[in-house]
Amino acid sequence: MAEKTAAPDLFAGINRPKDPNNLTELEKKHIPVITAPDKVKPGECFEVVVEVGKLLAHPNENAHFIEFIELYAGHVYLARMDFTACATCPVMKVCVSLGKDLGPLRVFERCNLHGVWEADKPITVG
Ligand SMILES: [Fe+2]
Repeated sequence: MAEKTAAPDLFAGINRPKDPNNLTELEKKHIPVITAPDKVKPGECFEVVVEVGKLLAHPNENAHFIEFIELYAGHVYLARMDFTACATCPVMKVCVSLGKDLGPLRVFERCNLHGVWEADKPITVG
């Protein structure tokens, strides 16, 4: 029987760093890094860039890769990008326009071996 390479509890929920000031290698490979303005005007288009593996490169091969990145403002779904192994890199660039303050930008990414990981970034609309 093949040995599993992922800790089972990574699939029990959404993963976040246990200590943001002392990230493990696993956390560095999976935490989505969000680049976006701190403040935007209502209705103004702005760019959001989400990178997985920015802090420490994540593998990108058939047996181990990032399957998708999803972007929300608060609980409002904004965008999703699906990835294949080898042919794509887990970076999502999207232009967004928010009519009002909905809460922080929230990102979820899923690794096929290490589950779903979340990050957020405050943004003010006004
Ligand atoms: Fe992974």
